[in-house]
Amino acid sequence: MIMETLKTENNQTETRAGMKNEMEIVFDAVSSNESFARTAVAAFAAHMNPTMEELADIKTAVSEAVTNAIIHGYENFYGYSRHGESQPAYFIIHPGKVKIHCTLENGILTVEITDNGKGIADLDKAMEPLYTTRPELERSGMGFAFMEAFMDELDVKSVVGRGTCVHMKKKLGTGAWIDGEE
Ligand SMILES: Nc1ncnc2c1ncn2[C@@H]1O[C@H](COP(=O)(O)OP(=O)(O)OP(=O)(O)O)[C@@H](O)[C@H]1O
Ligand SMILES: [Mg+2]
Repeated sequence: MIMETLKTENNQTETRAGMKNEMEIVFDAVSSNESFARTAVAAFAAHMNPTMEELADIKTAVSEAVTNAIIHGYENFYGYSRHGESQPAYFIIHPGKVKIHCTLENGILTVEITDNGKGIADLDKAMEPLYTTRPELERSGMGFAFMEAFMDELDVKSVVGRGTCVHMKKKLGTGAWIDGEE
């Protein structure tokens, strides 16, 4: 268990257990689970009293990474018609799982979204705005650009044939990181 030593208001020292909160979910790589995933991460962060804007940013970034895992990683296109339009459905063409691991520490939310899908051959190119390998599905190639814009940190690792891991961080407005305790 993690123990943290804090200064209380009257300058006494206090030791508290478990200042790091952690959760993990694993779900089928289908479009019907995308809204579940973004809502679950937002709900996990909720006790930090994030602003509506912060919550919207987190949900957008999680949605983009989860959609990528489902349609690019596992090639389960069912439910995704045109970009921005989807009719979430439970219909697996290629069985696979998406894992989300989150931590909250010092008001910083860390989200890691992992798939064991086909992986990305040229990561630098994939991360360029407007680059997509699926123009026929009317994808616009803006997913990584949105993740970068809406989160404070984005780091992607991928191995062809093994899968992809998207690591993101967001500093929440009320967090202890403001006082330089990061
Ligand atoms: N998890 C993943 N597994 C395999 N390939 C991926 C994965 N995530 C992204 N990619 C590749 O990176 C490219 C760029 O991803 P990005 O999210 O920026 O754009 P997009 O998904 O093509 O379009 P958009 O997100 O705007 O609908 C994708 O076209 C795809 O080739
Ligand atoms: Mg995308």
